[in-house]
Amino acid sequence: MGISIDPNKVLIFDTTLRDGEQALPQSLSTKQKLQIARALDQLGVDVIETGFPISSEGDFQSVQTIAKELKNATACALARCVAKDIEACGEALKVADHFRIHTFIATSDIHVHDKLKKSQDDVLDMAIRSIKLARNYTDDVEFSCEDAGRTPIDYLCRMVENAIKAGATTINIPDTVGYTVPEEFGGIIQTLFDRVPNIDQAIISVHCHNDLGMATANSMTAIRHGARQIECCVNGLGERAGNCSLEEVAMAIKLRQKYLNGLYTDIVATNIARTSALVAKICNEPVPPHKAIVGSNAFAHSSGIHQDGVLKNRETYEILTPQSVGFTDNTMRMTARSGRHMIRACLTQLGYPEDSYDLNEIYSRFLKLADRKGQVFDYDLEALLFFQKQDENETNHFELETLNVMSGGVNHGAIPTASVRLKVGKRSRTESCTGNGPVDAVYNCISRLTGIRCKLTSYKINANGSGMDALGEVNVNVDYNGRIFHGMGISTDVIEASALALINACNIIERARLIDREKVKERKEKNH
Ligand code: KIV
Ligand code: ZN
Repeated sequence: MGISIDPNKVLIFDTTLRDGEQALPQSLSTKQKLQIARALDQLGVDVIETGFPISSEGDFQSVQTIAKELKNATACALARCVAKDIEACGEALKVADHFRIHTFIATSDIHVHDKLKKSQDDVLDMAIRSIKLARNYTDDVEFSCEDAGRTPIDYLCRMVENAIKAGATTINIPDTVGYTVPEEFGGIIQTLFDRVPNIDQAIISVHCHNDLGMATANSMTAIRHGARQIECCVNGLGERAGNCSLEEVAMAIKLRQKYLNGLYTDIVATNIARTSALVAKICNEPVPPHKAIVGSNAFAHSSGIHQDGVLKNRETYEILTPQSVGFTDNTMRMTARSGRHMIRACLTQLGYPEDSYDLNEIYSRFLKLADRKGQVFDYDLEALLFFQKQDENETNHFELETLNVMSGGVNHGAIPTASVRLKVGKRSRTESCTGNGPVDAVYNCISRLTGIRCKLTSYKINANGSGMDALGEVNVNVDYNGRIFHGMGISTDVIEASALALINACNIIERARLIDREKVKERKEKNH
């Protein structure tokens, strides 16, 4: 087996890049996925489900790129019980020294009969054949009984026993539709341990969805009954109501270790806040304020009685500290007089090793920001770093050169007008347009200058940081030929941030168009 097993260790299998990503309106680029994968690797997860390689060329490439990069976690990819899916996993993952193939098939009556239109025996045969095929590529094979939560227990036991016999080293029991309640789900795991004779030859894993808000409770109950792997996503992302949330199970196991008779995970708790923020930003899925562990209100005490209690003894109302999951309360300030060493020291303190960014480049961005903003806070610096990483090694076809906007209020006789100069490839071009507001006028200019006709499906503006000094962060989703693309922009000026967000989306669309054109050319050359 790929992972050496301590009986008290609960493996954390992260599926943010697969189950989480499949639920996003827009897909993530390889680069964005790599950024998340690196953070997960540093967070201490044991297995990273990197994608579903058969689903698209882009996914195949992301899986391959991430598999090559991971330093600690095992790279894993998903396959249906179909030969070409498993072959694609093997091909994409073979760049890694060690990897896992995760193959799945549905086992509940409704899925077997109505979705797959097969018999239980057919499904069992497909599972066995697929596991054996996957074992030709790796000795680390996970098998999932999709919709196990609603699968007749006799069939589930038979399936698990045969999957282990066929060579599966991890058996995953998903509550695919988030239907079970904790006692019931724990009972399913217990029955498997009681009735499957070879159960000790595999790790039992759980994968709980949150449709009834029970994903964390179900996963916690499962480990009390012998499961030793939890599948989860950062910020609880995932299909519909999401998957079990990584930070919730990690902190529950850490905090309640005594109750759990010494169970533990290898998650580095102080990296949780940063990983959560990174995933929220890249996925354009803000963390709800009341979200356990990582929400902005998770550690806030509002009522007088609570505040009074906390002042007397924090533990009256606080079971964990924000610092324990990596939130810091000493915000650092810098000005244009701060030197490079100060920037480096601040980033080190925030947990960014020096080899993870280009100090000269970040410093020049910092100086520009400090000139406009006066004081720069550590969260501003983090935002600059984030944007530097997004841009790294990417050539941008469109770049904003100048922007002028006139707006006096549409209800008071003014006609919002914008004039935008963009670098388009090697040439500079200018357009002026009116609109129903300043952002609309700017967007009309960008649309003409780029020639990209896309539909704005979402526009969100946030304050990055706190108070009047906060940077404006704009996130847009645009629909281009039925595909959703996400763009981000940040600036002290919200109109400029809006322009940068749309230009960012247009650059991503342009890169996608280029890849499509190259593919068509390749296909044509092959056919000749
Ligand atoms: O929810 C589910 O059943 C899944 C499987 C592919 C493991 O995501
Ligand atoms: Zn799932």
